[in-house]
Amino acid sequence: MFPNHKPYTKRLQAPDKTLPPEFKQLTDEAEQLWTEKCDTPAFHAYVSADYEAVYESLAELRGQVHTVLEWGSGLGVVTIMASRMGFEAYGIEVEPQLVEYAKQFAEAYGNQAQFAQGSFVPDDFVWNPSSGDEAIRTMIDTPGAYGQWDMELQDFDLVYAYPWPDERTFYHNIMRDCGRCDALLLSYDAREGVELVRFNKG
Ligand SMILES: C[S@@+](CC[C@H](N)C(=O)[O-])C[C@H]1O[C@@H](n2cnc3c(N)ncnc32)[C@H](O)[C@@H]1O
Repeated sequence: MFPNHKPYTKRLQAPDKTLPPEFKQLTDEAEQLWTEKCDTPAFHAYVSADYEAVYESLAELRGQVHTVLEWGSGLGVVTIMASRMGFEAYGIEVEPQLVEYAKQFAEAYGNQAQFAQGSFVPDDFVWNPSSGDEAIRTMIDTPGAYGQWDMELQDFDLVYAYPWPDERTFYHNIMRDCGRCDALLLSYDAREGVELVRFNKG
């Protein structure tokens, strides 16, 4: 899928906007909850991605990656979809209330998705504005959550994230500095759609 040089970015095709019926109820319920609670503090940095677009992209990656981590997993929808699609799926979310909702959705939809409360920014990441690190709504003063699973960022084949505008470089820097040499970052942007970047540091 990727040429052997570094890094490699692929803009994934526009999805045909079909979500399997098994996910429709989950996404509808999550969107309804967001509508009801959007003015509460837990949702201050939350906005949901285009789930159809993310689903299509994950479907393209089936068979190529095994472990998937959602950074800022919010209500957990992408992590839950990934788990039901056969990936080993994990989500990290800083807002405790959102983690609770995500766990409730995972239970209701009966799957193995795992959620941890804390930061997806690894504790050993060195913040460096001169490298383009900029945080708009991503929390940078909370301990990393990886230890709760006795894991680290290097254990994941694919990270999925929805960075706020201008945070894209920061997210790339985390992957480059702390991710595995062949790790993939799948990211969603409301204007640009879905992008897949391979951080081939070898
Ligand atoms: C733009 S929303 C994305 C929600 C979901 N991933 C999606 O794509 O639909 C970003 C989420 O990241 C969370 N967040 C912000 N900083 C974080 C951090 N350092 N670690 C974990 N989650 C964080 C916010 O609370 C919010 O739920």
